[in-house]
Amino acid sequence: MRVFVILPAAGIGTRMTAATGTSTPKQFLSLAGVPVLVHSLRAFLSIPRVEAIYVAVQKREIERVRQQLDEFQLGTRVHVVAGGDVRQQSVWNALEQLASQARCGEDDIVLVHDAARPLIDPATIERTIDAIAEHGAAIVGMPAVDTIKQVDRTSHGAIVTATIPRERIVLAQTPQGARCGLLQRAFSDAVADGFTGTDEASLLERAGIEVAVVAGSPHNFKITQPGDLELAEFYLRSSK
Ligand code: C5P
Repeated sequence: MRVFVILPAAGIGTRMTAATGTSTPKQFLSLAGVPVLVHSLRAFLSIPRVEAIYVAVQKREIERVRQQLDEFQLGTRVHVVAGGDVRQQSVWNALEQLASQARCGEDDIVLVHDAARPLIDPATIERTIDAIAEHGAAIVGMPAVDTIKQVDRTSHGAIVTATIPRERIVLAQTPQGARCGLLQRAFSDAVADGFTGTDEASLLERAGIEVAVVAGSPHNFKITQPGDLELAEFYLRSSK
């Protein structure tokens, strides 16, 4: 059983760039002197059974990312591919490259992790791989601590329509993944039906594939808005 990783890193991070006035997407911003993407890569490279990592970036960023891989000596396990207009397209492009270059078998494992979650810890990655080996597909998720409301969005704001029991809720993080054959089937079905989801689990679920949940951590949050880098630096310092 071989293990592969896909890191979607082709977003333009409109919330962050609009709020900070910088044109640099969040995955390339510096966190404790090292780009966010490099933190994410190092976490997966620290797992010996990860055979190769496919990073999807915008076409115009490919050269810059290749230079960063050299600068931070990230080795030959990392491959850079062109991403797409939405996250799902970026992952699909990387999955196609992975399938043609590395020839992943039905039972091999593919993990997908948002490049913008730099504080993923190796132990959680290991637990996710083990859960996929046992169940076929798995995601990292956090229990909900707040009460969850369903709403209708109206021109006057949001109106509550229902309360969803929070013990039935987990907040999906990444990594998410599955056996290579299952993930390819879920993506092909989604493409055939014109379905676009914001994570891999939504594609796996609609293909009728059971997805297990592994416990996540508040540290594994997605850098999204101003202040998040400072919070990540605080977590990094306090984990040393
Ligand atoms: O946009 P969002 O914050 O959900 O992005 C999650 C991850 O997906 C980020 O690492 C981002 O770079 C990536 N992404 C991508 N291709 C896109 C949009 C987002 O690889 N077109």
